[in-house]
Amino acid sequence: MNLYAMQADDATRSVASRAGLGGRLGAGTRTEPGASRLTPKAHVRQTKRVTELRFDPRDPLGLRDDAPMLAAWLDFTRQAGTGQLLPMSVPGHKQRQDLVGAVIAGDAPLYGGLDTIKHADTLRMDSERRAAQLWGADWCRFSVAGSTHGNQALALAVGQPGQEVIINRTLHRSLLLGLVLAGLRPVWVRPEISPASGLPAGIAVSAVQDALAAHPGACAVFLGDPTYVGTISDLAGHAEVAHAAGVPLIVDAAWAAHLGFHPDLPPHAIAAGADAMVTSAHKALPAYTQGALVLARTERLDPARLERAFDATHTTSPTGSIMASIDAARALLAADGERLCGRLVRGVAAARKRLREVPGLAVLDGPGVEPTKLVVLLAGTGAHGNEVEAEIIAAGMAVEMADRDTVVPIPTIADDEEQLARFTEVLIGAVERHRGAPRYPAAAASWTVEPETVLPPREAFFARAETVPAAAAIGRVSAELIAPYPPGVPVLAPGELITAEAVKALREVAADGGRIAYAADASLATFQVIVR
Ligand SMILES: Cc1ncc(COP(=O)(O)O)c(C=O)c1O
Repeated sequence: MNLYAMQADDATRSVASRAGLGGRLGAGTRTEPGASRLTPKAHVRQTKRVTELRFDPRDPLGLRDDAPMLAAWLDFTRQAGTGQLLPMSVPGHKQRQDLVGAVIAGDAPLYGGLDTIKHADTLRMDSERRAAQLWGADWCRFSVAGSTHGNQALALAVGQPGQEVIINRTLHRSLLLGLVLAGLRPVWVRPEISPASGLPAGIAVSAVQDALAAHPGACAVFLGDPTYVGTISDLAGHAEVAHAAGVPLIVDAAWAAHLGFHPDLPPHAIAAGADAMVTSAHKALPAYTQGALVLARTERLDPARLERAFDATHTTSPTGSIMASIDAARALLAADGERLCGRLVRGVAAARKRLREVPGLAVLDGPGVEPTKLVVLLAGTGAHGNEVEAEIIAAGMAVEMADRDTVVPIPTIADDEEQLARFTEVLIGAVERHRGAPRYPAAAASWTVEPETVLPPREAFFARAETVPAAAAIGRVSAELIAPYPPGVPVLAPGELITAEAVKALREVAADGGRIAYAADASLATFQVIVR
C-alpha cells in the first residue's frame, strides 16, 4: 500500500512544468510553468522578468518551489540575518554571531525555527512525502544522523531480540551495532573476492538463498549494496529469494542516493524490489554532512514500527539546515537528476579510460561495478596509495580512501567532466612520481575476514569485559568492535573469536598508515575481551 498515493503530487507537477522548458534548470535562471507556450521572444522577456523578480542567490536554481523545508530554511535564516529575532527557545546561540562566531551561521532548528514547534511535523512530512514519491516508497524519514542512524533504525524495525537475520559480514560498523541494539543474531554471507583486485564483488543471490534455507527462522535479509568499492549485487534476485522466504530485504545503500536516476545507472534498491533502503544524502547528493534518508515499502514492514524505530534513535532536536538540505537535494534530483547523473557517468567513464592508458594502472569496471564509482588499482604501478594520497591532498583534492593498493575518490553529481579530468591528471602525476616494482594486490582484512561468532553481538556487547595484552587476547572472545576506517567494516566484532590472523591483519593496516577505529587501544597492544 502506498501511504502517499492519495495525495496530490505537487513535486512532480512542479518539476514537470520546469521540464516543459527543456527539463533543465540552468544556474541563475528561473522559469515559470507554461512559459514554453510563449513565443521565443516573449519567453525570453518573461524569463528575464521572472529572473529579476525572483532570483535568489541563496537558492540559485529556484528549488524552493518544490522543497518546503528548504523554503522554510531560506525564510527563517533571512529573518534571523536581520538581527530582529529574539528567540526564547533553543538553540542557545539565539542566532547571534558575536559569541562563538560564524560557526553557527545558517543553523536553524526544525522545531521552532523552520516552523513553530506545533506545526513543524506537517512541514517535515510534506518534504518526506515528496521524497517517498520520488523513490517509489510508501514511507520516508529524513535523518540528521547519517546512514549510521538509518541502519540502526531499520535493525530496530524488524523481528524480535534473538531472531536471526541474513547479513553480509562486509557490513558497515553502524549496522553491526544495529544488531547489538536490536538483539538480532547474524547469519553471515560473504562476497567473492576478485584475485585481480583483492576487492569484493556483490553478494551472490545463491549465498542468500542457501542461508535462508538453512535458517528458516530468519526475519530479514540485510545487504550493503553497492559495496564500498561500488560493486553491485543482483538486488532484484535478492528481493525475489527474500520474499519467497516471506522476509523483507533491507539494503544499506549509503553510497547510492543517485542510483535509478539515469538509464545508464542500476535501479535503486526500492525499484529493484527491496522493502527498505538507507542512503546518505551527504555522500552521493549535495546535502549537508550527516543528511540521510530512510525509505520503505510497507507490504512487509509495519509503518508504525518503522516510525517507532526511527524516533527511538533520532535526536529530538534535528537541525533544520540538514533537513532542508536533504529536501533541496531531493528537489534537485527530481528536477535535474538525469542530466547531472549523465554528466557524472560520462566524467567517470572518461576518467576510467584515461587511467587505463597509464602503464600498470587499472580501475574497477564492467557490469558488476556501479558506473559512477572510481576505484583506482595501483598494484601494477608499484606506487603506494598513501604516498599518492598525500600528494593529492596537497593539491587540495582529498580522496575518500587510500591504502597501499587502492585509491577511492568520490565523484558526485557536483563534479563536472572538466573537474574530473583535472583530478585524473593530478592523480596520474602523483602515481608517476611514486612508481616502483609492480606487485600483486593484497586483499584487505576488511573484505576477507572470516569470523567465528562465539556469542551474539548484543550478549557480547553487554558482557563483563577486561583488558588483556594482545598475545593473551588470541583465542578469547572480543568485547569490542575494531575496524580500519575507511571502509569501516569490522575486522573484529563483539562476540567474535580473536584470532592471530585478525590481530596480524589489523597491525598490518596500522603499520601501513591506516586508521584503526573504535578500538579501546588503537595501538593494538591490548584488547578488550569478555571475562571467562
Ligand atoms: C556502507 C556504509 N553504510 C553506512 C555508512 C554510514 O554512513 P553515514 O556516514 O552517513 O552515517 C557508511 C559510511 O561510510 C558506509 O560506508
